Amino acid sequence: MARYIVLLGPPGAGKGTQAQRISETLVLAHISSGDIFRENLKDQTELGNLAKGYIDRGELVPDDVTIAMIRERLSRPDCRNGALLDGFPRTPIQAEALDKMLVEFNSEVEAVPYINVPEDVLVERLSGRWTCKDQGHVFHHIYSPPKVQGICDQDGSELYQREDDKPETVKRRIRVYMEQTAPLIEYYQQSGKLIEVDGTQSIEDVSNEMIAALFKDR
Ligand code: AP5
Ligand code: MG
Repeated sequence: MARYIVLLGPPGAGKGTQAQRISETLVLAHISSGDIFRENLKDQTELGNLAKGYIDRGELVPDDVTIAMIRERLSRPDCRNGALLDGFPRTPIQAEALDKMLVEFNSEVEAVPYINVPEDVLVERLSGRWTCKDQGHVFHHIYSPPKVQGICDQDGSELYQREDDKPETVKRRIRVYMEQTAPLIEYYQQSGKLIEVDGTQSIEDVSNEMIAALFKDR
């Protein structure tokens, strides 16, 4: 059966960082809703133009648009084995839509690693983050510096600071997370799928803890 793993956690918790590291180990496509929106923004597609205002304000893009986008993405051949979902679902409506979608695919969410990180650490991580222009690889000027300043180790493209990593937008994103996404912790706890991971550990230790938990019972 295809494996669907949902990475849950506040902005800056390390969802993208961990997804990049563990998607190869798990042989799963890394599907980041934020990266797909940013690609569309760059290409100025209809979806990108629609999403822009929400992303710039640190708010969520409407559920119907986001759900349709993820449904299309999960239907592609590279998701045949399942997917590692990063940034989706983000509201109870999206979580229910995902459950229904996966029933259609004869599958279900297998596990939900929840990367728990306190707010002050999030702000520090986001203010030091550098993201690659081509594929969204993530670096941090202290915790995960690139080998050559300003250049992505993986694909050689330029690194930039995300527009929505400005302090006032970060605050808004964290507030939106608390209001709209944090209820999913209980949603997945109730179905026994939540795996809480201490996200204040080093990047390496978080990966190891997550991989150990995901391979347990298999
Ligand atoms: P999205 O791109 O998903 O942003 P986010 O959830 O706010 O999360 P981030 O990407 O900021 O953080 P992350 O957890 O991936 O952390 P990272 O690994 O980079 O969404 C952006 C916007 O798109 C949303 O605001 C919304 O508008 C829209 N959107 C997206 N999905 C949506 C949805 N489902 N519904 C509606 N709208 C949606 O790490 C952060 C930094 O910390 C990096 O510099 C990294 O190097 C460093 N770091 C990571 N781990 C560690 C560690 N253990 N120790 C030290 N440093 C670390
Ligand atoms: Mg991310």
